[in-house]
Amino acid sequence: MSAPETADVAPHVHHQRLLIVDFGSQVTQLIARRLRELGVYCEIHPYQKVDHAFLAAFAPRAVILSGGPDSVTREGAPRPPERLWEMGVPVLGICYGQQAMMDALGGRVEAGAPGKGGTAEFGRASVTPAETPLPLLAGWFEGGAEPVWMSHGDHVAELAPGFRVYGTSPGAPFAITGDPERHFYAVQFHPEVHHTPKGRVLLQNFVREAGFTGDWTMGAYRDEAIAQIRAQVGDARVICGLSGGVDSAVTAVLIHEAIGDQLTCVFVDHGLLRKNEAEEVVGVFRDAYNIPLIHADESDLFLDALEGTTDPEAKRKTIGRLFVEVFQKHAAEAGGAEFLAQGTLYPDVIESVSFAGGPSVTIKSHHNVGGLPEKMGMKLVEPLRELFKDEVRALGRELGLPDSFIGRHPFPGPGLAIRCPGEVTRDKLAILREADAVFIDQIRRHGLYDEIWQAFAALLPVRTVGVMGDGRTYDYACLLRAVTSVDGMTADYYPFSHDFLGETATRIINEVRGINRVSYDITSKPPGTIELE
Ligand code: XMP
Repeated sequence: MSAPETADVAPHVHHQRLLIVDFGSQVTQLIARRLRELGVYCEIHPYQKVDHAFLAAFAPRAVILSGGPDSVTREGAPRPPERLWEMGVPVLGICYGQQAMMDALGGRVEAGAPGKGGTAEFGRASVTPAETPLPLLAGWFEGGAEPVWMSHGDHVAELAPGFRVYGTSPGAPFAITGDPERHFYAVQFHPEVHHTPKGRVLLQNFVREAGFTGDWTMGAYRDEAIAQIRAQVGDARVICGLSGGVDSAVTAVLIHEAIGDQLTCVFVDHGLLRKNEAEEVVGVFRDAYNIPLIHADESDLFLDALEGTTDPEAKRKTIGRLFVEVFQKHAAEAGGAEFLAQGTLYPDVIESVSFAGGPSVTIKSHHNVGGLPEKMGMKLVEPLRELFKDEVRALGRELGLPDSFIGRHPFPGPGLAIRCPGEVTRDKLAILREADAVFIDQIRRHGLYDEIWQAFAALLPVRTVGVMGDGRTYDYACLLRAVTSVDGMTADYYPFSHDFLGETATRIINEVRGINRVSYDITSKPPGTIELE
């Protein structure tokens, strides 16, 4: 996917901005999450990119240095630019960030491998206060010591001039340090993680001290995004592919608010959708929002092309290729759109620190629209590029999308084809749709829908013998899958009660013709994947 046209520093954001310099910690994204929850606009940038010119252009009101796997005692280890210390803005160093700060300002850091230096701490630790209070720690130590989450091998051995100690743990005598006059603070633990319960309070105190007023609200974001879309698009036409998912839906509604009928949405029905799905999507967009929508019923094209195909990758490729062709055909009907709208999210565009070979940009394109931008030679409009998934949901609510739509489980681009191992036929799809609808209905009736990341039925390519009434049956076996997850990268099966599973199996067998056996998939990811193919 070609990189969209964005300057190194986003030019349009008027918020007070906080810069997070990423030194490669596994949890850097959580710093951004916590700050956004506090109404602070922030961006993560890899340390390699943060030089003097970058700092001047970004003009942060405060800076946070993340943790990272390197050791400042190593020559050539990552360091923040010297200019940072002269900017007069508050800086908070976390873990490696603390060590980088001390090293830069005249302190000393000692390397200590776990078990060797005796100062390494991994996991839970307890911090006790020093005598002098510190505004950064308002709300801390009310009950004595505070639990924090540590993960460090190296440690600070000598403080930089101007710094004092404000908190100590057994393995980190300098667990919390600061130079309040310059507003430089450095902590050895990770305030951004869940296992540092008062971490959020510390971050809140830090941003308050830096003068952030918490102006990052969805209302403000919506207004800015609308202004920005208008400025980018002018009076050109935009086309947006709707998948039925939350991201493309919020993208479409936001763009429609900005430019009205200059937007046309294309919803490709590939015949692999769930029961009533096409009607729901068309109902919301065309009827409730009055957005020009091309509902392309191309199910025959896709299902005919899939005939006889059993290999999972071959199925995906056929669907992907046809999708691009069909989308292009209908986009042309919409009359020469210059822009293609996509629901790309912030986690997809964060440049991650790569110690192997410099910063790399990871842009994940949906499998179903992958390749569209290059093939169509269009410019991209990506109004969700700065948002996390939960912020997209909040924006969706702000735009008036119904809760039932916003909370929907993810659904893959290739649809039911990858939930129907083996050949996909119309008959099998009809059976699968009914079973899936019963399963989801059961989950909703039991109030479990929002606890589950994704749930669906799959139709296994085996038929088994059963007995119903006095007769023999020889029907398909169905597999139910329901998982919990945070991001779809790892997942665990949902622990339904036996009663729930029994009741659901009975309902499916009674209500769906063609299924006489039901099983529940208890594979986690890894080693399994969420979908079957
Ligand atoms: P897996 O099966 O890889 O799925 O564990 C992880 C998440 O991604 C979704 N998924 C897809 N989404 N196009 C999509 O838009 C696809 O081709 C695709 N394949 C998997 C899957 O539903 C789960 O949420």
